[in-house]
Amino acid sequence: MTLKTTARAALLALLLCGAAMPALAQSNPPVPAILTTPEAHDIHSYAQPLVARVTHVDLDLTADFAGQKMTGTAALDIAAAPDAKEVVLDSKGLVIHGVADDKGAALPWTLGKADPNLGAPLTVQLNGARRIVVSYDSAPGGAALQWLTPAQTAGKKKPYLFSQGEAILNRTWIPTQDSPGIRQTWTARIVAPEGLKAVMSAEMLTPDGEPVAGGRAYRFKMDKPVASYLIAIAIGDLTFTPLGQRTGVYTEPSVMKKTAYELVDVEKMVEAAESLYGPYAWGRYDLLVLPPSFPFGGMENPRLTFATPTIIAGDRSLVSLVAHELAHSWSGNLVNNATWSDFWLNEGFTDYFENRIMEKLYGKARADMLADLGWSDLQDAIKDAGGLTGADTRLHLDLTGRDPDDGMTDIAYQKGATFLRTIEKAVGRERWDAYLKDYFARHAFQSQTTAGFVADLRANLIKGDPKLEAEIGIDKWVYDVGLPANAVHIKSAAFPAVDALAAAYAKGGPAPLAKWKAWSTPERTRFVASLPRELSKERLAALDKAFGLSAQGNSEIRFVWLELAVANRYDPAVPSLEAFLTDQGRRKFVAPLFKDLMAQGDWGQPIAKRLYAKTRPLYHAVTRQTVDGIVK
Ligand code: BES
Ligand code: ZN
Repeated sequence: MTLKTTARAALLALLLCGAAMPALAQSNPPVPAILTTPEAHDIHSYAQPLVARVTHVDLDLTADFAGQKMTGTAALDIAAAPDAKEVVLDSKGLVIHGVADDKGAALPWTLGKADPNLGAPLTVQLNGARRIVVSYDSAPGGAALQWLTPAQTAGKKKPYLFSQGEAILNRTWIPTQDSPGIRQTWTARIVAPEGLKAVMSAEMLTPDGEPVAGGRAYRFKMDKPVASYLIAIAIGDLTFTPLGQRTGVYTEPSVMKKTAYELVDVEKMVEAAESLYGPYAWGRYDLLVLPPSFPFGGMENPRLTFATPTIIAGDRSLVSLVAHELAHSWSGNLVNNATWSDFWLNEGFTDYFENRIMEKLYGKARADMLADLGWSDLQDAIKDAGGLTGADTRLHLDLTGRDPDDGMTDIAYQKGATFLRTIEKAVGRERWDAYLKDYFARHAFQSQTTAGFVADLRANLIKGDPKLEAEIGIDKWVYDVGLPANAVHIKSAAFPAVDALAAAYAKGGPAPLAKWKAWSTPERTRFVASLPRELSKERLAALDKAFGLSAQGNSEIRFVWLELAVANRYDPAVPSLEAFLTDQGRRKFVAPLFKDLMAQGDWGQPIAKRLYAKTRPLYHAVTRQTVDGIVK
């Protein structure tokens, strides 16, 4: 640290002012103090927030579809100690044209050596400035932005752009301090071509845009401090349908009807979530349902969840994904992981919370099925991590020298949620819920470390009770590998019957068609997933015929069926596999199927290579990067 202690204290005092105010009670919470503990140091950012820290970003960008780049300026407000000489920003592949202070005087800057994961530090000499303006273009081929051709959209007529920031991708289009522990308020002015609408994860000040040279300008404002990975944009042929008083959905016109039908319960979900853990802090809650190359199921961009169209099943059976992204409005956006090693604080809490929303809205039977499927996912994740002694079975991850993406497995989600269920069981639901609600309020608009959460848990829930401390075993859960013996496994009362029918079918019994028709999506998923990985061609064909599996429109069921088919080298399912891998690019579906194919030697590898040559250009960089490591 180059800063003198006194200067650092001055900066901290500056940042801390207002931090004691109850954040939820006011509309503009203060930009919170950066965390100063060693465990809050973010190894995935070049920022030196104790020297100079970005507090606010103003973007003024034009979306250049022909050149596939965003071009314009980012003006940054900087909090810095009086004697701070420079501010260090994150950047990856950005084309920097220049940096100036707010009076237009040029400021010296340098781009350091680029790391393949982290990109390069952009260091700007402040010369006393506390607001700097960076002129730049986004990185050519940068990972955050996907520029879609009209053919990749539902309407097939207009191009489309969307961004994905988490974990460290936003540095490919925004030169700021791209660290989850450094919250920033922001605004944007975005010029989009005429005929396309821009939306962002912020308050929309100009819903219809304003005519300007080269298209329409759209303005946005986020006056609550957020982590930089939560700044998101999409531009396309978008319409809007309200779902409730403060909820609605954006998507392309040709798919709006079925999309709005699917999401009819969103307003009720917000109410259910609020009844559990306190007021929704972000004003509106809207969704954007994207074209099928969106690499995730969903992304919790504030005020505007981004979601894959693969949840639009026609029967509202996959809406737990909405519950998940909505839950992040508390666990993730209000209180977020300070570093990527603390990722489980985002996803474990959210998986737990998601299930509570589902229980509240649709009852315990449905919630238990989802939780039990999650338990199976946990077992698979432990296997994938190398078994119970695998280093990445830890909740708090060691990501030294690694891309944060490498540690982002189902362990964070499912072991994290299981840990919280284990605490719930130990203290009782009432006490646990009261604690959680209070926890979100006390840490609102702040970043949190694993150690910080553990300390809070001890101070405000355990309160020195030695019996409780021993019963839960907090440190073992958080810092050790494997799965503690007290792990709470929620068992669906419906699954034993499903499992029995699957076992019977494997032994030559009939396809249980009447049951299948009556089953919900989790039961159907469970049935197919629990069939033995070795089945005869005849058994597979009979199943496919009875249940229409190859033609399944439900993406979760189609996925487990294709996994079973690939495991058995079942040729008749290859056209269905090809269509599924072409028609959507959700990494959770695409990557395991390519992995399964590659595991099937001289049968699967040629298929994988042939399909990937065709589908790779359709996928987002996130999916491409993962599959590139699988199909070689
Ligand atoms: N925040 C995640 C998506 C994410 C994770 C992006 C890691 C980048 C890095 C999002 O909330 C999420 O968990 N999505 C899941 C769906 C959920 C229902 C488990 C997904 O995309 O599958
Ligand atoms: Zn999530």
